[in-house]
Amino acid sequence: MGSQKMKSKAKKGTMARLIKTVFSFYPRMLPLTLMCIAFAAIISTLPSIFLQNIIGLVTDALDTGKGWDEISSSVFSFVIILVCLYAVSLTSGFLWNQLMAVITQGTLKKLRDKMFNKMERLPVKYFDTNNHGDIMSHYTNDIDTLRQVVSQSLPQLVMSSIVVISLLIIMVYFSLWMTLVVLVGVFAMLFVTKKIGGGSARHFIRQQVAIGRAEGFIEETIHGQKVVKVFCHEEASISDFDKVNDELFREADRANKYANTLGPILNNIGNVLYVIVAIAGGIMCLLIPEYNVSLSGLAFSVAVVVPFLNMTKQFTGSVNQVSHQINSVVMGLAGASRIFDLLDEEEEKDEGYVTLVDAEYVNGELTECDHHTGIWAWKHPHKETGETTYVLLQGDVRFTEVDFEYEPGKPVLKNITLYAEPGQKVAFVGATGAGKTTITNLINRFYDIADGKIRYDGININKISKRALRRSLGIVLQDTNLFTGTVMDNIRYGKLEASDEECIEAARLVGADDFITRMPKGYATEITNNGANLSQGQRQLIAIARAAVADPPVMILDEATSSIDTRTESIVQRGMDTLMKGRTVFVIAHRLSTVKNSDVIMVLDHGEIIERGSHDDLIEKKGQYYKLYTGAFELE
Ligand SMILES: Nc1ncnc2c1ncn2[C@@H]1O[C@H](COP(=O)(O)OP(=O)(O)OP(=O)(O)O)[C@@H](O)[C@H]1O
Ligand SMILES: [Mg+2]
Repeated sequence: MGSQKMKSKAKKGTMARLIKTVFSFYPRMLPLTLMCIAFAAIISTLPSIFLQNIIGLVTDALDTGKGWDEISSSVFSFVIILVCLYAVSLTSGFLWNQLMAVITQGTLKKLRDKMFNKMERLPVKYFDTNNHGDIMSHYTNDIDTLRQVVSQSLPQLVMSSIVVISLLIIMVYFSLWMTLVVLVGVFAMLFVTKKIGGGSARHFIRQQVAIGRAEGFIEETIHGQKVVKVFCHEEASISDFDKVNDELFREADRANKYANTLGPILNNIGNVLYVIVAIAGGIMCLLIPEYNVSLSGLAFSVAVVVPFLNMTKQFTGSVNQVSHQINSVVMGLAGASRIFDLLDEEEEKDEGYVTLVDAEYVNGELTECDHHTGIWAWKHPHKETGETTYVLLQGDVRFTEVDFEYEPGKPVLKNITLYAEPGQKVAFVGATGAGKTTITNLINRFYDIADGKIRYDGININKISKRALRRSLGIVLQDTNLFTGTVMDNIRYGKLEASDEECIEAARLVGADDFITRMPKGYATEITNNGANLSQGQRQLIAIARAAVADPPVMILDEATSSIDTRTESIVQRGMDTLMKGRTVFVIAHRLSTVKNSDVIMVLDHGEIIERGSHDDLIEKKGQYYKLYTGAFELE
């Protein structure tokens, strides 16, 4: 289920890495944006200075009995400067918002690309061991929290911090005493933030986990809807969801309660502070106007108190902002951290250097050529001698004493030795869980084993690049997977450059053409939801056609015909027989009819080959094979 395992804390250095990443995407635009932010921040603190000047002029005029005419031009010029400042501040604010929108969306797009690229390079093991809902949530939840951080929290944090610092400088310049009063209030605010804010962040993270869980539950229910229905589990499912949903509600409620109390409390502390500063300023003005109680650059007066009040408001507002944003940055970094974790996952290793090339015979010697000849060769560069040899691709597969375990300490295959010569049909039979699929997983290198134990045309398969290796294999997996697109697209998946005719030919060969042409739209029929609009057997036929169109020298068919009726199967069988000429074929099947005509049948039991031989040999032997299948045979 969804992000249950979601880490609640970001790793150290995530922030630095995030900034570095954004910077690497936008090396010019990001500094420009930061400059705009800093500019907007600093400018927004300046009006107080001009306000002080204007009030100073007016009070001065009142004291000295100057008329409006004498001071009007100065006042006007200050007012014009003020208006200009506000205009510039507004413009740069608009500018950085626009720039940041571009940077944010661009960054998210690039990160999504990076993640997908990475994901496509991860080994099968990653998908075995990680919850699919959780992997999915990297693209949804985590990206969304990151969006918040990059587009809002970080710029706001930078902006508010600069405002706080420059205001502090101006305030100290205005009056040190009054600044101290403000600072006492601010410490109270920080204390409250720490108390309440910590709780809020904790609950927000729990809320994210609860969202993941709810999403996972919904996903699973949609996926298993038919099972839910056949077992009449609708009511149980509804009440289960109710629990999950309740929990999400509780966490979200707590998180938001905390967050919603923090704002008003901080605001009120700010307001109280405002009043205190106003009273303190007033008293100082009235009682001791003749002394310079500012202790700093300016003489104390109404002209100082009024802008100071303004600044107090702005200052507490900014501190409020900073504490608010730090919270969401912490949360967002948890998402960023998860994204970076995915980007840091170790990719599927491939040290293979033997590749597959088109080849032809020149003077009896096999050499590489640049056109299709229908002959393929392994191009094997030898590191020691610097020579390159070409080996004809034939499909000779040999296992020598192969042991394998998915998890340490739990051996799945034990001492498997087998060989398949070009053109042979090798069948694996055995009970569920015996290790049949595992053998094929090793041939196509979904999982790697120790050196030298599996050889393909005499080459250690670890030396063959995975691309080349899989190109040479036609694989029909046990679970059929079809993709959104037409039937034709799905068949062409086996060989992207195949023409329509080739696809149809392949379908005809494996007996899929019949049902496809009977559908109203034929090969143009759209497949949705992994082929939910097709029968299981039809899906398998398409999967077989997909492997056939690739025209590989080795075929691996894992339970490929398990859902196909016996009549169609004999059609498939005939097609396969044509297809199999000159190919090595590994079949895994529970049905006797599929394996009967194999050159050799391997009977697996708990990861070991316990019997091997042709159908007739094994029947005669009256061993495990005989026992496994005579019942079924007699019924048939
Ligand atoms: N990805 C995996 N991680 C860990 N163990 C696995 C994994 N896949 C399979 N196994 C284990 O390996 C053993 C062999 O599984 P395998 O899929 O090869 O069986 P099988 O013979 O193909 O069975 P079936 O006829 O049901 O398809 C099983 O006991 C299974 O529990
Ligand atoms: Mg299997």
